[in-house]
Amino acid sequence: MPDSNVLPTMTGRPNDLEAFWMPFTANRAFKAAPRMFESAEGMYYRTTDGRQVLDAVAGLWCVNAGHGRRQIVEAIQAEAGKLDYASVFQMGHPLAFEAATKVAAMAPDGFDHVFFANSGSEAVDTALKIALAYHRVKGDAARTRLIGRERGYHGVGFGGISVGGMSNNRKHFATAMLPGVDHLRHTHDLEHNAYSKGQPAWGAHLADDLERLVALHDPSTIAAVIVEPVAGSTGVLVPPQGYLQKLRQICDKYGILLIFDEVITGFGRLGASFASEYFGVKPDMFTAAKGITNGSVPMGAVVTKGFLYDAFMSAAPEGAIELFHGYTYSAHPLAAAACVATLDLYRSDDLFARAASITGYFEEAVHSLRGHKHVIDIRNLGLIGGIELEPRAGKPGTRAFDVFLKCFEKGVNIRTTGDVVALSPPLIIEKSHIDQIVGTIAEALAEVA
Ligand SMILES: Cc1ncc(COP(=O)(O)O)c(C=O)c1O
Repeated sequence: MPDSNVLPTMTGRPNDLEAFWMPFTANRAFKAAPRMFESAEGMYYRTTDGRQVLDAVAGLWCVNAGHGRRQIVEAIQAEAGKLDYASVFQMGHPLAFEAATKVAAMAPDGFDHVFFANSGSEAVDTALKIALAYHRVKGDAARTRLIGRERGYHGVGFGGISVGGMSNNRKHFATAMLPGVDHLRHTHDLEHNAYSKGQPAWGAHLADDLERLVALHDPSTIAAVIVEPVAGSTGVLVPPQGYLQKLRQICDKYGILLIFDEVITGFGRLGASFASEYFGVKPDMFTAAKGITNGSVPMGAVVTKGFLYDAFMSAAPEGAIELFHGYTYSAHPLAAAACVATLDLYRSDDLFARAASITGYFEEAVHSLRGHKHVIDIRNLGLIGGIELEPRAGKPGTRAFDVFLKCFEKGVNIRTTGDVVALSPPLIIEKSHIDQIVGTIAEALAEVA
């Protein structure tokens, strides 16, 4: 093994970098020049070579309260010493119920029931299964079709990639997609919406694409529509004004369930508890993950309105299992402890309001990159920013990735997807951090070819 492929460990023995097949990573390039974090606190990571790196993406859209929060760490430690594991199949533990109660209390009115999973992907597949099973228990078993959206990202399960709309995530698995899935058009249109601040004014009519699919398939075959209220992984796509409202109306008109995938928009990212609160549009259920434990322990959730839960409770015979679905680690004690402590922290620090109070500064700062080399669009909402770059001919994504590498060298961790730089900092961010992030991106843009 070449020397560049080994790193010293705490034990003095080398790690084999090849042993870890890294997800969503250019493994060979990474292993030739690794970027390693060793610790984190507040807004900063520390690398194994002792450098501070400002975290402009909350880890991966998850560390909303900032890194290393004592309350969360201590809650996990305490629970690990008390109850290492308990199944929630036909039994329970108090923190599971407390976590569900607190998630429901934080959600907009009417979202009263929480099904726990361990990731966003599992939450998405759970939501799709609940939708299909719901129609069946209601005696409407022909409603089996699921509608996603082009450029959507709903994780990596077979359900999620089927309703998702990112071709790289789908093409190798094309024959294994769920049957009966269709996709709405996406809402990205630089001709009409470039450099919109907040929600673009143009594009509500794109929701009418659902009418096209209804006309094609007939509403009696459609179970649910799933969309991200603000799409993140596909390059920060902010919904046009009125778009989500229209989707809601069309779903209501035809008895189609509406699912919001709130894996990145939940827990304050837009300056409100959830996107459904921010936009004033209620889906029938929504997914959550990431910020639900501040990224500290894996956890995902599906939060549903009462009528969905009630349908299952009233359809099954007394004493019978109502939904044949669940995970060994659903509501794992450590995740439940982390969830409770995280939600308490969000409330005690009033973090969602804090995020809302700094979004104006963030918006201006991100849009100040307009006119810089390579930049062809800038988008933002809440504490989400997207800076789209002109792709290099024949090499999509490489220019933005070079900007990421430059920023990392200069001490700022950003994220890129395709040729979009995506920003989603912890909600504790200060103006000086925003200045550092934007200043560093500006330098990097000037330096990359
Ligand atoms: C909207 C959305 N849904 C689902 C997921 C998948 O979550 P996970 O990676 O926890 O499975 C993500 C991850 O970024 C996401 O952004």
